[in-house]
Amino acid sequence: MSDSPATAPHKRRPRYSGKNPRRFEDKYKEHNPERYAETVEKVLASGKTPAGTHRPIMVAEILELLAPKPGEVAVDCTLGYGGHAREILTRLAPGGKLLGLDADPIELPKTEARLRTLGFGLEIFTAHRSNFAGLPQMLAASEIVGADLILADLGVSSMQIDDPARGFSVKFDGPLDMRMNPQRGQPASAFLSKINSDALATLLVEYADEPHAATLAPALAGTTFATTKSLASAIRAALPRLNKDDCDLSIRRVFQALRIAVNDEFSALDTFLRNLPACLNSGGRVAILTFHSGEDRRVKKSFEAGLRGGIFSDIAREVLRPSPAERNANPRSAPAKLRWARRAA
Ligand SMILES: C[S@@+](CC[C@H](N)C(=O)[O-])C[C@H]1O[C@@H](n2cnc3c(N)ncnc32)[C@H](O)[C@@H]1O
Repeated sequence: MSDSPATAPHKRRPRYSGKNPRRFEDKYKEHNPERYAETVEKVLASGKTPAGTHRPIMVAEILELLAPKPGEVAVDCTLGYGGHAREILTRLAPGGKLLGLDADPIELPKTEARLRTLGFGLEIFTAHRSNFAGLPQMLAASEIVGADLILADLGVSSMQIDDPARGFSVKFDGPLDMRMNPQRGQPASAFLSKINSDALATLLVEYADEPHAATLAPALAGTTFATTKSLASAIRAALPRLNKDDCDLSIRRVFQALRIAVNDEFSALDTFLRNLPACLNSGGRVAILTFHSGEDRRVKKSFEAGLRGGIFSDIAREVLRPSPAERNANPRSAPAKLRWARRAA
């Protein structure tokens, strides 16, 4: 059977060697899940994430905690591919509304278009290219006094990680960029070329608990690495006595620390957590998914302080983790930690 409908103009598939495309941009079937559902099912069944998509994590748990109902106001602070938003949206009608925020100007329009195609019009869903640190201003501009439910699923999406042009992952060679919004700030290559060794050592410890920070910092600071692979090679060269697995862990931690720094992630999260109570209606619920200890520590402390101060009536006593089945089906969910809080009346 032909892949193209009879009416579609014939388009030559991208050229690549071998049976299946290996490069992100060549995986045209995965980029088009509506048309190539069978291919996408096969990729999902193998535990991978189809190129250009993102698999939402702990959806059932989040829906149970946030309990969206018709007529309520929801904010998805990290819209991403819109997987969580789509599930929440179906539960808000009639009369409800979801504001979707994302810092990423490349993926946001695609997600907005996808959700519109699914039937979510402007009356129920609006998309905003915005940092969640500015949530109070965003609500005010939308003439919303408070939200009944707020979700933040921190970090980066699979679309961002898997696209070599974004420079987030050492798995693919690409420009060392790492910005969620490439129109703002400086790429990781520029950041690294300007930072001094002491500041980099501190950053590697504070943002990624890197045990070899003292060795790595003088080898990397003040140098211009144009690509992800050139930075990875320099890390390997600086740690010659480490075995491959430990070296790979250091590479991942350096990449994590740089990403956090370039996107000012901790300062955005701190501002968001400070503003959160004022953005929630009485009895409003918030759920936050984190992916490393620096994020989880901040959320935990903030929720505990809110409970002590009577701002929250209840919070997660224990962190929630993805089920073994979810971790198995989607290995990218493995590090996720979920915490929740409820605003006091
Ligand atoms: C893990 S993904 C979210 C996936 C989403 N829940 C879904 O179901 O597709 C995280 C998203 O948050 C965005 N993001 C991260 N930090 C942000 C911030 N401070 N403000 C706004 N968006 C942010 C990223 O650009 C990315 O698209």
